[in-house]
Amino acid sequence: MEKLVIEGGAKLQGRVRISGSKNASLPVLMAAIMADSDVILENVPRLKDIHTTLNLLTLLGCRSGFQEDGVRISSGNLVPEAPYDLVRTMRASVLCLGPLLARLGRAKVALPGGCAIGSRPVDQHLRALEQMGAVFELDSGYIVGKCKGLQGARIIFDLPTVGGTENLLMAACLARGETVLENAAREPEIVDLANFLNACGARISGQGTSVLRIIGVDSLRGCRYRLMSDRIEAGTYMVAAAISGGCLELTSCPVNALDAVMAKLREMGVNFNIENSSVRVEASESLNGVDVVTLPYPGFPTDMQAQIMALMCVAQGTGTIRETIFENRFMHALELNRMGARIRLSGQQAVIRGGADLVGAPVMASDLRASAGLVLAGLRARGKTEVHRIYHLDRGYEAMEQKLKAVGAKITRQKE
Ligand code: UD1
Repeated sequence: MEKLVIEGGAKLQGRVRISGSKNASLPVLMAAIMADSDVILENVPRLKDIHTTLNLLTLLGCRSGFQEDGVRISSGNLVPEAPYDLVRTMRASVLCLGPLLARLGRAKVALPGGCAIGSRPVDQHLRALEQMGAVFELDSGYIVGKCKGLQGARIIFDLPTVGGTENLLMAACLARGETVLENAAREPEIVDLANFLNACGARISGQGTSVLRIIGVDSLRGCRYRLMSDRIEAGTYMVAAAISGGCLELTSCPVNALDAVMAKLREMGVNFNIENSSVRVEASESLNGVDVVTLPYPGFPTDMQAQIMALMCVAQGTGTIRETIFENRFMHALELNRMGARIRLSGQQAVIRGGADLVGAPVMASDLRASAGLVLAGLRARGKTEVHRIYHLDRGYEAMEQKLKAVGAKITRQKE
């Protein structure tokens, strides 16, 4: 196991290039198995979750891998089974359910269990696929699904689920007739997935709104597609600039997908200078606490909650965070308190008393974004912070310590 060791206090200065989006890449890689010919994806980040997905594609019978010009996927003879050993390391594996059912009429996918941030069921995915004609049974921890071709349907999600919307969007592309997805999630990664599928010959409209219309087609062809940049990585580096009291220029930044994050950071006192896809980020002399509620897009993303919490710890005054997406996503708060933060938790609400003089400490990361929050706090803290269990970070941040080092952070990766 490895840990990150950070000597806090350096003001970050310089340029950071934002990588391709993890959460856009995962569903698009799964969708690629529905195409009859090769897909080439540009801007796929080199991350643990991406390698896990490529391993899954291999087990599903595809050939895939990084090449000079991007990731190439050839779907070949598909095998409809996603084993537990793989699914338990990455919940997003469940995104192969829709494509497999659509293409083969059968799928056997291990049911993902709980995870550090909550129970995260997949009931919405299954119920919606049932409405399209799939039949499911549970066999030794596996969801076994069958259908005689999927039939278009009108589906109203109980809540806007990102993964559920993506699974159904993919499945509907090869279904008979029209599918309408209502109360669908509107995340930019879903727009990217829809644009990719349309480039393969799908007929999707309404992406970016809560009503998606899909007219089924007989087949999808391969294409070359460039994925969007990672809005959560960009948001994390925005906080890195602010919490260190430095100034960063973020390039390839998906500015339009960051409205809610930038609005809150502005309210705290962070200044932005935007030129096309390049953003200069600098904190003003003093930051102040704000009230944040995590919500589905276009609201404030739950994936930026830990990072803004770290920033609020060192801002002036009191701030609050209400987490409405996941029921157990405050594990980082207790670790931040070990560094001198003053956060009080009450159910889904956190009250952060600002003005903390953070002091380095050994801390334990519980999930991907919690790890990022702890690294950010470490950049600011006096003395040495050790962030343990950084395999979480490697799942979602491309070359984080190299990127931070290049802008002046004192950070090293060490063996435990
Ligand atoms: C995706 C993102 C994750 C992000 C989350 C919310 C990927 C790979 N992951 O996760 O980084 O934090 O969106 O923006 O893109 N729910 C149900 N039943 C379902 C499905 C979901 O009750 O069938 C609930 C979940 O428990 C959760 C909420 O809906 O409380 C939102 O989950 P969802 O949008 O599905 O998140 P993911 O797609 O898992």
